[in-house]
Amino acid sequence: MANKIYKLSDPSGKTADLPLREGSLGPGTLDISTLNKDLGVFTFDPGFMATASCESRITYIDGEKGVLLYRGYPVEQLAEHSNFIEVSYLLLYGELPTKQQLEGFRNSLRRHSMVNEAVLRFFSGFHYDAHPMAMLTAVVGSLSAFYHDSTDIHNPRHREVFAHRIIAKMPTLAAAVYKHGTGQPFVYPRNDLDYCSNFLNMLFSVPAEPYKVDPVAAKALDLLFILHADHEQNASTSTVRLAGSSNTNPYAAIAAGIATLWGPAHGGANEAVLNMLRDIGDVKNIDKAITRAKDKNSGFRLMGFGHRVYKNYDPRAKIIRATCHQVLEKLGRDDPTLELAMRLEEIALKDDYFIEKKLYPNVDFYSGIIYRALGIPVHMMTVMFAIARTAGWVTHWQEMISDPHMKIGRPRQLYTGEVKRDYAEINQRK
Ligand code: ACO
Repeated sequence: MANKIYKLSDPSGKTADLPLREGSLGPGTLDISTLNKDLGVFTFDPGFMATASCESRITYIDGEKGVLLYRGYPVEQLAEHSNFIEVSYLLLYGELPTKQQLEGFRNSLRRHSMVNEAVLRFFSGFHYDAHPMAMLTAVVGSLSAFYHDSTDIHNPRHREVFAHRIIAKMPTLAAAVYKHGTGQPFVYPRNDLDYCSNFLNMLFSVPAEPYKVDPVAAKALDLLFILHADHEQNASTSTVRLAGSSNTNPYAAIAAGIATLWGPAHGGANEAVLNMLRDIGDVKNIDKAITRAKDKNSGFRLMGFGHRVYKNYDPRAKIIRATCHQVLEKLGRDDPTLELAMRLEEIALKDDYFIEKKLYPNVDFYSGIIYRALGIPVHMMTVMFAIARTAGWVTHWQEMISDPHMKIGRPRQLYTGEVKRDYAEINQRK
């Protein structure tokens, strides 16, 4: 709803009215959609530093205060009381489910967890050491060639089936990615197991011997999935929205999100954090690492530190940090990397550079340590993130496609290239 009108005038005196649209929380946004019509100019905001790309009712972040709400519920409460499937339902449908709704959702996910055998055959084309995110991007994209019964994106039931399918199939595909890398046979999903136990079973069981899922591991995984489930208009979610805005096949839109998540400035950071901690190696090398991170010419950043939105402690990092010790202890793992990470955090948070720039640990600073304790190798960590974030991606895609005013995303630019010039024949060129 527009309450206040901001006025903008150009040097010739022409004016544009910019209505301020207020949300239910957070700063309002100036509606500039008629600016070009009124004043003949565009706005310039690389990296979306001050631009809301859409209206959304899903997730709210207050970066200054370190607040994260899914559909209004604080992530801390969901982490303590809920589970990933319930959170996925909440994101997708906007409300916490009743017992019956939750059971229906779980059953639907169970029924959609297998993938077409032909999809599994795609893996034989990948080299054994292909990066898991490369394989995941490709096989999720390949789902566009299947499931034609549910890809009429203008049909709400089709969209719902798609949402259930992709949430259900991600663990199966992620486990297949892992198995391909290890050379072990694929393991099919088991309907008698919950979402996270089923995933762990598909990852770690082998036909040669029985495998029992450790409930502590399943619970820890569930917690990480809750914390990674959504984060409003981050780079991968915005990519899913932009790709989806062309009305493309939704599996292709999710594949675009996975490709974006892969980057070390985004979801690839959990992998980068563990590699960084391995390189630092010892508490005595921390000072050197901090000095390098502060030196712009070094090209080195403290991975897992800093966030575009959080200028305070990332609430997800706070939860993971608190659980890290507990999980490691319950799993009987003693990981010196945790001590190193905590010491690094302590030193960085006292350093003027990090204080001034408001650089705090983000969700990925500690998540890798728990994943590793669960037996998940470093190069699989962004894949884990992708499984959880699928719930968010698909919810944002749904919200966008079901909006009757949805338009294809089409940013404008400030052109600074050559002005018009005539083609020169090759022998006339200098
Ligand atoms: N180490 C050292 N310096 C840093 C770091 C860092 N981790 N992060 C930011 N800075 C500095 C920048 O050099 C910059 O300094 P300047 O103002 O003197 O030029 C300033 O802090 C602001 O940083 P920007 O890169 O401009 O901030 P932006 O919002 O664009 O980037 C980002 C945020 C990409 C997360 C950045 O903090 C970073 O690269 N962090 C490390 C990678 C990481 O952990 N990514 C995971 C993000 S969370 C997620 O996606 C799940």
